[in-house]
Amino acid sequence: RPKVTLNELYRLAADKTPITCLTAYDYPTALLSEAAGVDMVLIGDSLSQVALGYDSTTTITLDEMIHHSRAVSRGAKTPFIFADLPFGSFEASVQAGVESVVRLVKEGGVDGVKIEGGREIIPLVKRLSAIGIPVIPHLGLQPQRATSLSGYLVQGRTAQGAQELYETAQMMQDAGAFAILLEAIPHNLARHITDNLKIFTIGIGAGPGTSGQVLVITDVLGLYADGAKPRFVRHFGNVADEARKAVNGYVQEVKGGTFPELGKETYGMKKEEWEGFL
Ligand code: KIV
Ligand code: NA
Repeated sequence: RPKVTLNELYRLAADKTPITCLTAYDYPTALLSEAAGVDMVLIGDSLSQVALGYDSTTTITLDEMIHHSRAVSRGAKTPFIFADLPFGSFEASVQAGVESVVRLVKEGGVDGVKIEGGREIIPLVKRLSAIGIPVIPHLGLQPQRATSLSGYLVQGRTAQGAQELYETAQMMQDAGAFAILLEAIPHNLARHITDNLKIFTIGIGAGPGTSGQVLVITDVLGLYADGAKPRFVRHFGNVADEARKAVNGYVQEVKGGTFPELGKETYGMKKEEWEGFL
């Protein structure tokens, strides 16, 4: 399969073939998307919590995002890959944003970037689009500002909120965004935005009416299947149980003396060599 281009993504959207997108944080998670033929891979700043164990999405640094983007780009050769601009790497000025994005592209090897925000990021979206960097604004629920939103709450649920979101999406399109990511908004609003924009949409918690879907890979795998699960998450497997079984099995067999098994999992030596050694 050839490398997924923007043209290919626009073609999928025009054909109403749902675009698949998954997060990846390292080489093995990137290989999962590569092997499954996923269209787009996102190095999300969810990396902060789900792969690095930080409490918040705002903790992760640009250097950490770049380090992980490099690993993902080595594994996901075919999908279109894009990374989040982490909190603190773009807010100060358009110049700060451009410098961060250039590093993600040059050092991280990504094809494009995602930026959380509203109308205040339009100058940055314009500048990046003008210099030829694909940018996907992240509208609706924006985890980087969960504190000021008083939590992870559904957005755009009032007539006025919906109107604002719809207009912001149109302004992002006019600013040159190649697509819009919509998180945790009513499904009919997401469909309305998708149907009325020329660019495509990727949704999470935005229903089936977007051009594509994205989920966090650890959610898809069920790697932390015992935690609290937002309404829009589906576990497509239970890797947590499998992983625990494997590690418990290893610990028990080593403690019990049944791993490694002589002859089967060990190397031998010719008798005379052994006696020569002794
Ligand atoms: O950081 C992330 O993983 C994301 C997706 C959930 C869209 O922003
Ligand atoms: Na994110």
